Amino acid sequence: MNSNVRPESMARITTKELADAFIAEQVEAVRAQVGDKKVLLALSGGVDSSVVAALLIKAIGKQLVCVHVNHGLMRKGESENVIEVFKNGLDANLIYVDATDRFLDLLKDVSDPETKRKIIGKEFINVFADEARKLDGVSFLAQGTIYPDILESIKQAEGKKAVKSHHNVGGLPEDLQFELVEPVKLLFKDEVRVVGEALGLSHEMVYRQPFPGPGLGVRCLGAITRDRLHALREADAILREEFAKNGLAEKVWQYFVVVPDMKSVGVKDDSRYEGWPAIIRAVNTKDAMTATIEEISYEILYKITNRITAEVEGINRVLYDITPKPTGTIEWE
Ligand code: XMP
Repeated sequence: MNSNVRPESMARITTKELADAFIAEQVEAVRAQVGDKKVLLALSGGVDSSVVAALLIKAIGKQLVCVHVNHGLMRKGESENVIEVFKNGLDANLIYVDATDRFLDLLKDVSDPETKRKIIGKEFINVFADEARKLDGVSFLAQGTIYPDILESIKQAEGKKAVKSHHNVGGLPEDLQFELVEPVKLLFKDEVRVVGEALGLSHEMVYRQPFPGPGLGVRCLGAITRDRLHALREADAILREEFAKNGLAEKVWQYFVVVPDMKSVGVKDDSRYEGWPAIIRAVNTKDAMTATIEEISYEILYKITNRITAEVEGINRVLYDITPKPTGTIEWE
């Protein structure tokens, strides 16, 4: 499947049977493309890279080398989950790189959102390239490119202006040139999910909400500090837990916590308690170009507020952002 154009005759993959047929076809195609060579994959744990990993493990087993870069901006438990699913569950050849210090040192005192994005994107390449250089005999790079990425690139090539630079990963350095393996590049997201489930990935993993490449980096507003990042991660974990318990995780398109770089005065144990606010964002959208707000019940908001303020060190208030897109964007940065 070398063409970047989806043939009109290609059936939409909506059932397990269609997914199985697609998988069988891709397994053969990948085997024919790579032979006995090694293939490298940056495995973030997002839907697309996870489905590509599972597909390639089926096709070429240990010839696939997955690199999971923890940039220190992952949500709580996320890197551990990648290791659990792929290394322990699927016996993947997985290299785990904890690059937290590299990223957070570079981001120290950087407050401009686009500069933060650029630093994170560039350092991601550096870390990944460092790992790639340590490996012998890798000729291919697998990517979780999907059809909307291809359509988006065409739009950008036509000169349409973007509000934010969402492209997380640029090109690899000159000395690392690989042939690309992109088995899901003609699929839409809903099809990738059906293929993922047919490959045996969990429903939870395959239907997880989108998570931006720069991760919590664009939710810890302004210059990131480790203590505020920690508070954000803990508050976000509580939000996710409560959403899951209350049936909202399946229903809401994207939900997360944002922690701004400001403190307000509060009170705890009869003493002045200055803390950051945790801002809850919960949006629904079809294509992320516009978004509406999920109307969370007062009861659930109350529970989340109580838990976050009681359990998370440094947070003394919880706010609920009811701004649709436009005028807000989904992320705050
Ligand atoms: P905005 O904030 O532009 O977000 O309304 C729209 C969707 O894009 C995600 N987003 C990003 N995804 N890298 C990404 O991979 C980024 O830098 C980035 N910024 C925003 C956001 O989470 C939402 O789903």
